[in-house]
Order: sequence, then C-alpha cells, then structure tokens
Amino acid sequence: MGFDPYVIREDFPILKKEINGKSLVYFDNAATTQKPKQVVEAIRDYYFNYNSNVLRSINTLSSQATELYIESRKKIARFIGAGEEEIVFTKNATEGLNSLTEIIPKLLGRKLTVLTSIMEHHSNLLPWRRMVSEKGGRLIVVGMNEDYTVNVEEIEKNLENGCDVLTIVHVSNVLGTMNPVKELCKLAHKHGSLFVIDAAQSIPHIPFDVSEIEPDFVAFSGHKMLGPTGIGVLYVRKKFVEKIEPWDLGGGMVKTVTLEDQVYEDVPFRFEAGTPNVEGVIGLATAVDYLSRIGVSNIAKHEADLVKHLMEGFDEKIITVHGPLDSTKHMGIVSFNVKGIHPHDVAQMLDADGIMVRSGALCAEPLVNALGVNAVVRVSFYLYNTLEEVDRFHESLRKLRGFI
Ligand SMILES: Cc1ncc(COP(=O)(O)O)c(C=O)c1O
Repeated sequence: MGFDPYVIREDFPILKKEINGKSLVYFDNAATTQKPKQVVEAIRDYYFNYNSNVLRSINTLSSQATELYIESRKKIARFIGAGEEEIVFTKNATEGLNSLTEIIPKLLGRKLTVLTSIMEHHSNLLPWRRMVSEKGGRLIVVGMNEDYTVNVEEIEKNLENGCDVLTIVHVSNVLGTMNPVKELCKLAHKHGSLFVIDAAQSIPHIPFDVSEIEPDFVAFSGHKMLGPTGIGVLYVRKKFVEKIEPWDLGGGMVKTVTLEDQVYEDVPFRFEAGTPNVEGVIGLATAVDYLSRIGVSNIAKHEADLVKHLMEGFDEKIITVHGPLDSTKHMGIVSFNVKGIHPHDVAQMLDADGIMVRSGALCAEPLVNALGVNAVVRVSFYLYNTLEEVDRFHESLRKLRGFI
C-alpha cells in the first residue's frame, strides 16, 4: 500500500512556508531532510517531561529518561535488522567513518590496506587517507563502470591481492546509483577483508537489513531520515563489538576506575563516552517510527515516480544528466548541468522561484571531476515531495532557456 504525500505534508509545517513569495519546494533532501511534527514533539516532550542525564543517577526522572533512551536504541536497531548492542551512537555518518580509522587499525593490529572507490563522499575518503599517511598502510581507489556503479572486477582483483578493509558508499549522493553491497560484502569476506558501508543515502530511502547484507560496519546520519541533527549511528557487527577498543574515554563508559586501571562498561555503552545526545536519540527513534509506519519500500516507490517524472521532463538539448539515463537506477537523486549556465546560477534562479536544490561538488569532488565537470545541480527527493512540485521545477527551468 502506498501513501498520500499530501497527507504526509501536513506533518511538516515548514512545507507551508513561502520563499521569495512562492511556496517552498524542498528538493535538497540528500543534504538534510525536513522534520515532522512528531519528531519535534518527541524532543519537546523529553525536555518538558523527562529531561535528565541517562545511565547515571538513580532518581526517578533519570530512570524515566534512561528507559526512553534504551527503548530508542532498540527501535533504531530493529529498523536495520540489528541487535541493540550493535548500535553505537555518533554525531553523524562522518564521525562514524572517522572512528573506524581508529577502531580498525587497533582491531587488526597492523597497517591497513584500504580499498575504496571514486564514488565516495569526502567523509569516506579523507579519514582513510589521513589514516594511511599518519599510520602507514595503503589506500587504493577503484573506478566506476559505465553504469555508474563501482567496478566490481577491479575490486575483486585488489581483494585477491590482499586488502584489510573494503569501504563503499551504498547510494551515491551525486548520482543516486546503488552499489551492490551484498555482493561486495560476500567478496570482501571471501578474501578476508572487512566490509564497511557508507549508508548515509540508502538507509533513509530503501529497505536496509544488516542481517541480510552482513556488513562489519555501517555508518549513517539521523538528519537525513527525518531525525534531528547531531545524531548518527555506527553499526558494529556482533562478532566485533566485544573485540574493539573504546576510542573515546571518560564518564559513562566505565564500571570501575582506580588510579591505575579501569573496567569498561558493557557494550555498546563503553563506546559512548560522556553525556550522550539524548534528545537526538529520542528524536531519531521517533523518525524511525514514522518511516516504519509509512514503509521504506513505499518511500522508494514514491521517489521512483518522482525521478521518472523529473527525467521525462528534461530537455536533453540543454540538460546533461549525470548517471544512467534509466530513471529507475536513480534512488531519489539526480544531478545534472544546464548548458552554458553555472550550477550555482541555476540553483539561484530556482531559488528565486522558491525551489531549493544543491549545487557544487557535493562533497564528492573526485567523483564530480570524473564526470568531466567541477560542479553540478542536484535534485534529491523525499516522501513529502509531489509530482506537482516537479512540474513547478520544470516550469522554472524552462525560464532558463532565455539565458542560453
Ligand atoms: C554518501 C554520504 N556519506 C556521508 C555523508 C556525511 O553525512 P554527515 O554530513 O551527516 O556526516 C553524506 C552527506 O551528505 C553523504 O551523502
């Protein structure tokens, strides 16, 4: 069963806003999504009725807040088919990926050979590059196929030669194409490599189940899936949670401390030093409830309709779409250039009509350069976008013809 985006929109007060005298069209969901009333209400309810630190004091208020916090972790874990002990809260996907450059060298106890791809967001490239430059090891970057997914053969060849980590973006934030993570995970494990998924653009938009894919680590952000900013998740596969060392130390992650030694808390609490982002966790759990109620596969179908309508309306004489011409291969994201007009100018002209898009290198400069440009315009959808909004976008784009 699908859903009615017009009913959904009632939960998002911001969508009633006007920008430059026009009703807001928000097509920048890959950057961050809007938040429904339910998420904002849950955060307000926490502050008005439960605000207290968690996992510390034994007073009633703290116990209630702790219960909410623990329940929230369970919901978030269930959403991706994980166990609650496999969910480590971070501030965002970027922090999760950076943490891995501390965690994995210690786990394996050697300099790492890391395999990644040209399709990565800077968050899945720069931390690994710094790691090899500071700690030694090697970073290998594989290319893309003609279908704008990673080159699996090149990956397998490198894995055969011996790699420690394969880390790949699931859905590209530039192209919207989806990499075959299940197949890549099997290959990585077959050749004795760990497998990391940057799922920042997939978990919000398509069904994602760690028990089916079996990755070792997964990073994603709450703010790209209706949740608040400042909360993310690093999924750590059960077989590693007891083996990895805490990377941050401090309060809340130890059972006992003497001047000489300490005993760490149980997992995953030992990985969350300091006061956690309680409102963020509660907000994200509420977002997950919201998404589960609608059904992520229904959201994927809705986005597919929007992408189809978007791409059908493009005039190929002036628009160059990056990525496959088959709209079904774009998971809610389409990047393009308009002949003779800089992407920032296109974005500004759309903005004048109340339409919010992203332009530039999209924090994936090597990929954008590989497309033969240094900037693109990106449209990215979510569940509250409508076909009518896509029509408005095309109408606005048609005005650009005059400038060409
Ligand atoms: C594919 C991908 N990975 C990682 C990130 C980083 O997410 P965050 O900025 O929430 O850490 C993004 C953000 O756009 C992304 O699109």
